[in-house]
Amino acid sequence: MSSNVSVVILAAGLGTRMKSNLAKVLHRAGGACLLEHVILAAKSIAPPDRITAVIGHQADRVRAEVARLGISFHVQEEQKGTGHALHICAGLPGHRSGRIVVLYGDCPLLSPVTLQRLMQVHEQSGCAATVITTHLNNPTGYGRIIRDARGYVEAIVEEKAATSEQKLVTEINSGIYCFEAAALWPHLDRVQPNPASGEIYLTDVVEHFRTSGLATIPLAVEDPNEVLGINTRVELAEVDRIFRQRKTRELMLSGVTIEKPETVTVDFAVEVGRDTMIGPFAQLLGRTKIGEECSIGACSILDNAELEDGAQVHPFSSVQDSRLAAGAHAGPYARLRMGAVVEKEAHVGNFVELKKTRLGRGSKAMHLAYLGDSTIGANVNIGAGTITCNYDGQKKHPTLIGDGAFVGSNSTLVAPAEIGAGSYVAAASVVTEPVPEDALAIGRGRQVNKEGWAKRRREQPAK
Ligand code: UD1
Ligand code: CA
Repeated sequence: MSSNVSVVILAAGLGTRMKSNLAKVLHRAGGACLLEHVILAAKSIAPPDRITAVIGHQADRVRAEVARLGISFHVQEEQKGTGHALHICAGLPGHRSGRIVVLYGDCPLLSPVTLQRLMQVHEQSGCAATVITTHLNNPTGYGRIIRDARGYVEAIVEEKAATSEQKLVTEINSGIYCFEAAALWPHLDRVQPNPASGEIYLTDVVEHFRTSGLATIPLAVEDPNEVLGINTRVELAEVDRIFRQRKTRELMLSGVTIEKPETVTVDFAVEVGRDTMIGPFAQLLGRTKIGEECSIGACSILDNAELEDGAQVHPFSSVQDSRLAAGAHAGPYARLRMGAVVEKEAHVGNFVELKKTRLGRGSKAMHLAYLGDSTIGANVNIGAGTITCNYDGQKKHPTLIGDGAFVGSNSTLVAPAEIGAGSYVAAASVVTEPVPEDALAIGRGRQVNKEGWAKRRREQPAK
């Protein structure tokens, strides 16, 4: 990473063609907003204090969304073109010398490898500018690269200004450049607003360079996806698909088995250990971290989840902001949320919800239960249909269940509740008092049998 590189990310536009109330760079693909991907790529060539995003539309929201990444912001009050957006950064600290790399906030697939190549090519060529280009089958809408006899860029012609002959050129301007600051600023000063649109085009600087005898060198990249700019939601979906494909491929190559990978959604920051199996339609989102030899069942959604080695989430489960320790199981159809923890070898079965609840080592809650705000010890058995009544309409209350307790099916634990270690709660009890250690609590009406009652009823003549 060179110390004389400053990065400017142009991100002030609204993105009219998105037909959205949300600024374009805040739309999400691959698990992050578009601008975040660009910032992460920029960080591969410059430290965060040398990266500036030019923002305008919804500036406050954009700033708030990516502030944690440590970059600076510069507001462009009125969007007067790409040249204007860059020009207002001329006076920023450090921008007068060294190199200025220009990126677009709506161009999120650019890889750090390509950015590093841009820096290398620029350094070796000694040119005033290097521009990333690519060849497109359908170049409509893009600025075309017009090369001179030696292969340098003579001009970049925008679609609207292109002659029919220039429109046949398939090499397009990605909008990603590296400039020598000393050459850039005085020439950008001279660029006049485009007569048709009134905007100042950054692309016009190339011709000003040429008349001063300064060269711009093109760097053509093979994979046009790298420079795919997003203009519509159709392109957003396509970019999202490419991100997903990149991520699942990377995981598979690192030793993760993915069934039907084209159906699986994995956010870019997710980590998965070797020999873990991921079923079809699973979604691994946010900061989810999965150990080795885990399994994630079909259609499960894990969001900021943590699974230690060998943990298993069975199909159709939802795990949010929660953790499964080594060898723990959850699902099918389990729901874990708000910091739930399933300790080693503990099992959560079907239609069981854990909210802010810790299920101790080896404990089991296998069927149809709601356990909220509870701390449950080791080797506890929670019967089918057990419900913690943790909310009294105003406040939430805790439930404590000691090691080795046995809570019978369909029990109702009215919190605050305390079930002592080694105790039994009889099935269908409503527990309103603490249960002492090793006791049996029965909190229900006694059964009454009325001999012959049913038979007599059947034999009574109907009225
Ligand atoms: C630009 C290039 C074109 C290139 C294409 C690649 C110019 C004149 N044209 O066209 O050659 O092929 O990108 O995608 O540069 N922005 C600001 N402030 C402004 C104007 C734009 O921040 O005043 C930002 C936008 O938010 C966007 C980027 O700059 O992220 C590009 O602007 P856009 O208007 O989309 O340029 P294009 O017409 O696509
Ligand atoms: Ca564009």
